[in-house]
Amino acid sequence: MPSLIIDCDPGCDDAIAILLALKHSDLKAITTVSGNVPLAQTTENALMTIALAKAQTPVYAGASRPLESTPTQTNISHGSDGLGGIERLSHDRTCESYSARDYLLNHVSNEDWVIALGPLTNLGEVLQQDPDWGKRIGGISIMGGSTTTGNISPVAEFNSYTDPHAAAKVYASGAKLIMCGLNLTHQLLVTDSTMTAVLELGTQQSTFVAALLNFLLQRIERSVGTRSAPLHDPCAVLAVTHPSLFDFEELSVEVETEGDLTRGMTVVDQRTTRPRLMPNTLVAKQINVALALQVITDSFVEA
Ligand code: BDR
Ligand code: CA
Repeated sequence: MPSLIIDCDPGCDDAIAILLALKHSDLKAITTVSGNVPLAQTTENALMTIALAKAQTPVYAGASRPLESTPTQTNISHGSDGLGGIERLSHDRTCESYSARDYLLNHVSNEDWVIALGPLTNLGEVLQQDPDWGKRIGGISIMGGSTTTGNISPVAEFNSYTDPHAAAKVYASGAKLIMCGLNLTHQLLVTDSTMTAVLELGTQQSTFVAALLNFLLQRIERSVGTRSAPLHDPCAVLAVTHPSLFDFEELSVEVETEGDLTRGMTVVDQRTTRPRLMPNTLVAKQINVALALQVITDSFVEA
């Protein structure tokens, strides 16, 4: 099983990704960042998810604001508590005293993959401190960006928009990179039948996941009228734990930090009529949706 660290901002799909990683990897640690909701809430949500899974994974709190840009408003897509207002589990877990930055800087080895599911601020802080860090670790699998359209703006995805300077540092870091952008995650659509299949597992975890899926389906139904929602963050876990589910292409990815209209845009060189820039990222282009949904659904059978 691969050895992973999850850097995240839970977030409904982050919480599902954590449970998926607990099932299919050796999950060494979780680091949290401000994103979908403020840092204190993303950290509490990570702790609650770990408690629900009865896991001992340590949680390290990280950055509460982007490296350079002004903080954006938090993401209303996950509700004010980040987990869709579903019933909360009371628990006694607390985060470690060490910071996320120091944990990542000092404890990630060349066999570990970092799965980055939120704004890339923690990783940006590490690279500010040690520009060679990315070359010393196994790699980074990112949910963020897009080879096509954005979500928070016409061209930018929420995570890379929120901290474009950190994202730019990560893509320039020389680390082995996988990008699961919106072009990919919008293929992995969950529906009521996914939610029912999860619920029927009848475990505490599956009840929790089904409630999160229900929130995501209700939210999308209100905004676009269909009950079919993309499940973003689990894609970046599966890209490392189940790479055979994906088609990848090696491409150059850079991030726009300053543009008035293009802040946070991932500029992906897919030109066909000129030589392309040197590739730095394995960009996920296709996912086997049926198999991926099966892996996800089968992951919540315990606890
Ligand atoms: C990303 O933004 C967040 O809302 C999700 O958790 C995901 O990481 C999708 O743009
Ligand atoms: Ca996220």
